[in-house]
Amino acid sequence: MIFAPGIFDGNTALVTGGGTGIGRQVALLLARSGARVAIASRKKENLEGTAKELSDIAGPDRVFHQPCDIREPEQIAALVEAVMAKLGPVDLLVNNAGGQFPSPAERITPKGWDAVIRNNLNGTFYMTREVATRCMIPNRRGKIVNVTAQVFRGFPGMAHTGAARAGVENMTMTLAIEWAQHRITVNAVAPGVIKSSGTAKYIPELVEMGRQKTPLKRLGTEEEVAASIVYLLSPAADFVTGATLYIDGGARLWGENWPIPEPR
Ligand SMILES: NC(=O)c1ccc[n+]([C@@H]2O[C@H](COP(=O)([O-])OP(=O)(O)OC[C@H]3O[C@@H](n4cnc5c(N)ncnc54)[C@H](OP(=O)(O)O)[C@@H]3O)[C@@H](O)[C@H]2O)c1
Repeated sequence: MIFAPGIFDGNTALVTGGGTGIGRQVALLLARSGARVAIASRKKENLEGTAKELSDIAGPDRVFHQPCDIREPEQIAALVEAVMAKLGPVDLLVNNAGGQFPSPAERITPKGWDAVIRNNLNGTFYMTREVATRCMIPNRRGKIVNVTAQVFRGFPGMAHTGAARAGVENMTMTLAIEWAQHRITVNAVAPGVIKSSGTAKYIPELVEMGRQKTPLKRLGTEEEVAASIVYLLSPAADFVTGATLYIDGGARLWGENWPIPEPR
């Protein structure tokens, strides 16, 4: 157990994309450490199994799940209302929901571009603002962690998510300043290539290329990303705000995603 049992006693957490992968590990870690935990994502079937696991740890009265598409502000408002009614105001928010698909920039359609921007940039903003205005600003307390991606030097092969994640990183710094007066911290974690439910959907060669270019020569784990997120939610990070923590085995510093083609 990395975090002391009870370290989050009295806190309500909301984890988007909390039914699978990294989000599920965050939710489990928070529940084991004393938080009341709400999880949300689009598909009920992704939420139900994890909600049962959380209930077994924390008790059914301390867990909530509800489908929500973060691209739809009305669904976000309904979710936050429901979480507040069941578990009380949100103290800890993890914006983990997201998704993208590999494509050369010249082949991304307007629909594909918009889908990724709405998901990975707009959804994070709408969720953050709703939770802050309904819960954190009035209560003068809160910790927000945004999950981005290691897009430090650009993100060839996924221009849409590179742009969205860079936007979230900048938003993280802005909100850290704007909301410091309300005692709210806002940070981000930027995972490199992680062995997760997300990368299981990618072609294995692409993931293997990611492993090879990672200085630590392995993939990260869902648990490792979750531990960094929970650190930023914990009292150990009370004086950390506006930061992006890279969980990437050093990948931002060295190597290329894949060989850059020769000019034709
Ligand atoms: N694994 C990696 O190597 C890696 C690297 C960098 C960044 N990340 C990011 O880390 C986060 C977690 O990824 P993961 O690896 O754990 O993969 P994952 O299991 O695919 O997690 C994505 C989660 O987001 C939810 N989601 C997607 N779109 C949504 C929407 N519009 N509204 C609400 N929920 C939505 C999904 O659930 P539903 O389908 O039920 O909506 C799912 O639970 C993602 O943002 C991912 O892009 C992962």
